[in-house]
Amino acid sequence: MIFQELNRGKCKTYLVGCEETRKAILIDPDLLHTDRYIAMLGYRGLTLDATVDTHTHADHSMAAFPLHDLTGSRIIMSTYASAPAITDYVHDGDTVEVGKLRFKVLHTPGHTPDSISLYGEGRVFTGDVLLIRGTGRADFQGGDAGAQYDAITRKLFVLPDATLVYPAHDYRGNTVSTIGEEKKHNPRIAGKTREEYIALMNSIQFPLPDKIQEVLMPNQTAIEDDRTKFPELAELSKVQQLSAADVRKLMRNPEIVLLDVREMHEYIGDLGHIGGSLLIPLRELTMRASELDPYRNKHIVCICRAGVRSTTAAAILTGLGFEHVSNLHEGMLSWRDHGFPVVG
Ligand SMILES: [Fe+2]
Repeated sequence: MIFQELNRGKCKTYLVGCEETRKAILIDPDLLHTDRYIAMLGYRGLTLDATVDTHTHADHSMAAFPLHDLTGSRIIMSTYASAPAITDYVHDGDTVEVGKLRFKVLHTPGHTPDSISLYGEGRVFTGDVLLIRGTGRADFQGGDAGAQYDAITRKLFVLPDATLVYPAHDYRGNTVSTIGEEKKHNPRIAGKTREEYIALMNSIQFPLPDKIQEVLMPNQTAIEDDRTKFPELAELSKVQQLSAADVRKLMRNPEIVLLDVREMHEYIGDLGHIGGSLLIPLRELTMRASELDPYRNKHIVCICRAGVRSTTAAAILTGLGFEHVSNLHEGMLSWRDHGFPVVG
């Protein structure tokens, strides 16, 4: 197996390649180093089969989208990821093939709902869920300390002790650990009960990453243009979140307006859409907001795949003076899980 960490910094990007087939993947590639990755792949004579992002990152811009444009590489992310441009959504238990190598997808939420780890070849790539002698923050982006405790203790700490641990970040100069070491020495979680872990995580004041919205929003939406002015975090947190069941009940009221902000291929894709919903993709929303003028005084419910882009849409519309805008929490994924009807 070909294996190398390519960034040599606090943010880690791993190159994993199959010696026989010369196929490779990049795990968590950073936009800043796109040229380096292309050069390294060429130097080693590897074809980039796919990029895998362990989650939607808040601290660096993802290179997955430009690498896909340049090389045609597949974009692999969790089915709970929010961006529309992903080519291969994966679920817990799925396999990611790299030539003849096999990695199992473990859904390990907690840092974010869309966090996955990849396990295979004696290694586990843990993203930001489990770090070396630490764990990723669980205080925003849909983080959940309890879910994180469960993911680490039930999905990661059950792997063989000798499994090498490669996280997406390290701030202290570490490069690798093992499951056995983290089980014993990780000060955040070793020997702690679920309650103790949640209390500890709630007690830590994490600073927000620099330029968070400028980084996070394009990663969540795959929008890279200047026409969309993304809302501030505080505006996003004010958006009223409605469950799928709430929205279904509200639909008995003819005054309600359902606004789907996904791309057309998603609207008519696997998850379908809710009958009667209007479609204005998020990337066009600012320009086309006047189409919604007749509904200014009505209750508008924004909808997308995972509920992230639509929260942004709801905040944008509120900022444009629409009076009553809310969001379908966890989007069409939740709608489908409830078994509510869709149109193909
Ligand atoms: Fe992260």
